[in-house]
Amino acid sequence: MKVNGTHYRSIWLDPNDHMIVQIIDQRLLPHEFIIHELKTWQDGAVAIKDMYVRGAPLIGATAAWSMYLASLTTTDQAALKDIGEQLLETRPTAVNLRWGVERMLATNPANYRAEAEAICDEDVEISKGMGRHGLELIKEISTKKKGAPVNILTHCNAGWLATVDWGTATAPMYTAHEAGIPIHVWVDETRPRNQGAHITAFELGQHGIPHTVIVDNTGGHLMQHGLVDMCLVGTDRTTRCGDVANKIGTYLKALAANDNNVPFYVALPSTTIDWTIRAGVSEIPIEQRDAEEVTHVRGKDERGIHSVQITPDDSPAANYAFDVTPARLVTGLITERGVCEASEEGLLGLFPEDLRFETKT
Ligand code: MRU
Repeated sequence: MKVNGTHYRSIWLDPNDHMIVQIIDQRLLPHEFIIHELKTWQDGAVAIKDMYVRGAPLIGATAAWSMYLASLTTTDQAALKDIGEQLLETRPTAVNLRWGVERMLATNPANYRAEAEAICDEDVEISKGMGRHGLELIKEISTKKKGAPVNILTHCNAGWLATVDWGTATAPMYTAHEAGIPIHVWVDETRPRNQGAHITAFELGQHGIPHTVIVDNTGGHLMQHGLVDMCLVGTDRTTRCGDVANKIGTYLKALAANDNNVPFYVALPSTTIDWTIRAGVSEIPIEQRDAEEVTHVRGKDERGIHSVQITPDDSPAANYAFDVTPARLVTGLITERGVCEASEEGLLGLFPEDLRFETKT
């Protein structure tokens, strides 16, 4: 998508030096737009762990490119497997990380560059597919509202910066906007790292999509007053039964949506489905991050970008990065192949070939 009128993907191979992968340093958005270079697989691991890049599909793509960078120094399968395992330790919740590493390991190292490129190109097509299917849901609401703006609430950043391009939850928004359907997006700020306030608002603003940033606790109030027509979020891992792990706070939005009869949709590429597990709450590992992300907030003043402490010196803080929304609270899953019920039958109806996967439980 575009930044100041120029089209970018979120990750790409440097056209002038094929030993360098380039990314946008998302830690600095929206205040600074800096392109960062990955020269080794370890650079890729740091970029994932320290969240220069984030978002499930982009984490998978970065892992794939990190494996490509590793293959520039070794083509030994055992060494590459070991590197893959180290990459898997960077962030535990997004299943795309495992998917990206496993797909590269199943490839001849001589072809790693083509494979990483294919993963990125496929991700873009998958996002466009979610955009087309999600558009129909937005259209339906727009027709019922006789063309008045459709109010969509989203959480975290499930935008093009969380994927390679177009996004997951944002793909239907961009597609609707391009189709001339008026929409307005309520953007949860998404503490502690504020991916909504920093990144989703930046993305939507760059595309001229009307939006309003709200604090995370506002959604329930808006829904009680009829100000949300649909919730639309992404996911980092979806079980074969349709339970959905996403950024912490998503579950509370789903509860409020259920209480107020607001449809709650989750957009996901099939790469985010973990066919090996059924029960999200007990089986999805939830990343716990540094407490400093809770005790401090980052922002900009006239002297630059700073982080300031907002809690007492001695108060401990806990930082659970994701939560699980049970399938019963999800109205539908928007995938690249269509919209389905959040259930094993629903998912297998769209992806029958994945019956081949064995479940652990
Ligand atoms: O911790 P993050 O920023 O990687 O979390 C990202 C999200 O929770 C997104 O909503 C998710 O990856 C799904 S959409 C691509």
